[in-house]
Parts: sequence; structure tokens; C-alpha cells
Amino acid sequence: MALLQKKPEQPQVDFSRLPRHIAIIMDGNGRWARQRGLPRTAGHAAGAETFRTIATYCKDIGLEYLTVYAFSTENWKRPAEEVSAIMGLLKKYLLEAIDRMERDRVKMAFFGDLSPLAPELRALCQRTAEISRHYDGCQVNICLNYGGRDEIVRAARAFALDCMEGRADPNHLTQEQFGGYLYSAGVPDPDLVIRPSGELRLSNFLPWQSAYAEFYFTDVLWPDFTKGELLRAIAAYQGRSRRFGGV
Ligand code: IPE
Ligand code: IPE
Ligand code: MG
Repeated sequence: MALLQKKPEQPQVDFSRLPRHIAIIMDGNGRWARQRGLPRTAGHAAGAETFRTIATYCKDIGLEYLTVYAFSTENWKRPAEEVSAIMGLLKKYLLEAIDRMERDRVKMAFFGDLSPLAPELRALCQRTAEISRHYDGCQVNICLNYGGRDEIVRAARAFALDCMEGRADPNHLTQEQFGGYLYSAGVPDPDLVIRPSGELRLSNFLPWQSAYAEFYFTDVLWPDFTKGELLRAIAAYQGRSRRFGGV
């Protein structure tokens, strides 16, 4: 009887104390597809839709920064057809994003080495970043050909070069200064890192920036991730006590 049915519990979120920055490892697309007897690429297509929904929702609730892991430096190990399907979906997403950019006013940035991407996709990334550079709403960072260790090595290289050319001094390097060499320069560290799909690892995602992040893991696969799941993660975050080494 309808009257006796228990309502699904609404996560208690205090929207006046949202984390500033949420980072998400968008994982589980392949398993989602397999469960339905579909090709893995269908899972990536469904995952792209989830990304659109969640990014829009983050903007609507007033989140300042959302960073998502879309393709890692290790994901090139996958079959060529899967890689090219993912790249095709990214292209489609960016073309649509450019179309609605003036309306959505989401600032987009990319973390990762874009140089191995097809020139057309690379140009689209540059264009979306350029058009939205001056937007001041939610900033969405898409990690594309991103690897945390790769990011740190690149930063070390750039810093060493600055030292060799007299622009920097190794004896005075601070954490803040080093952070300025990372893809995330100028973006505050993530407060909350979410990984769906049941895996309990970082897989090379933002290792430097997540040093003091709160982690939220769920078995839900990324294509099934909903606004409600996001609110559950935020509610869990709000129930934590962040001490940063203090008492
Ligand atoms: C995440 O989903 C998407 C990318 C890594 C590009 P997966 O494709 O890793 O999905 P699973 O982990 O195989 O289920
Ligand atoms: C991490 O997921 C990368 C992205 C979600 C883009 P993976 O599926 O590549 O991670 P592993 O292989 O399970 O560690
Ligand atoms: Mg995976």
C-alpha cells in the first residue's frame, strides 16, 4: 500500500557549507555496459550523460570547482576502438558545450597533456577553455590524458628549467610555489574526492592536491550516479571532522 511505503531517505545537506571543490573519478562505465549486455562504448556514452547532469547540478547548487577524471595517462593501454570511442564522445560533448556556453556560463579548464590528442580535439579543448576563461561561475576541470605522477614530474622539470635559467632558486622552493607548476595552478585543493564503482584506489588522480581531501567511495557505477548520490557524498563530507593535523 502506497501509504506504508518508506520514502527513500533524503540526505541532509547544508547548502551554505558546501565543499568548495569536489573531484570525481568517473569510473564504472564498462561494468555498467557489461551488466546490460552492451558494448563498453555504450557505457562511456551513458557516463558522458551522467557527467552532463552532475556538472549542471554542481553549477546550480553553487559549487565553485568540479574536477573530473575523464581519461588517464594509463587509459591508452585500452583497445584502440575503445580509446577512439572515448575521444569521439569528448568531441561531441565539447561541441555541444560550446553551443550552450553563453547560456550555461560554466568555466572549463583541462588538466593533462593534450599534445597526443587529435588536433581537432585539442583545438576544441583550447576553444572551450578560451571562450569560458572569463566566466566566474562554477569551474569544471576535465582531466584528460592526466596522470598525477606525470603532472608532478612535468612540474619538477619546469621548475628545474626555471632554476637553470635563473628565474627560480631551489633553496627557496615552497609547496605553494611548486603547486604553481601543476595543471591545477590557482585552483584550491579538492575538499572531497568521490570514487564510484566500488574501487578503493586513487588510480593516479590528483595525488598532490588530495593530500588532505576527504574521500567518499560508493559501489554505484558512474552511469547510475545521480544528484541524490552526490548529495549523499556531500552529506557524508559535512559529517566529517577535518583536522589537517591539528586537534
Ligand atoms: C571509466 O570507466 C571511464 C574511463 C576510464 C575512461 P571504465 O571504462 O574504467 O569502467 P570499468 O571500470 O571498466 O567498469
Ligand atoms: C580511472 O579509472 C581513470 C578514469 C576514470 C578516467 P580506471 O578504470 O582507469 O582505473 P583502474 O584501472 O581501475 O585503476
Ligand atoms: Mg575503470
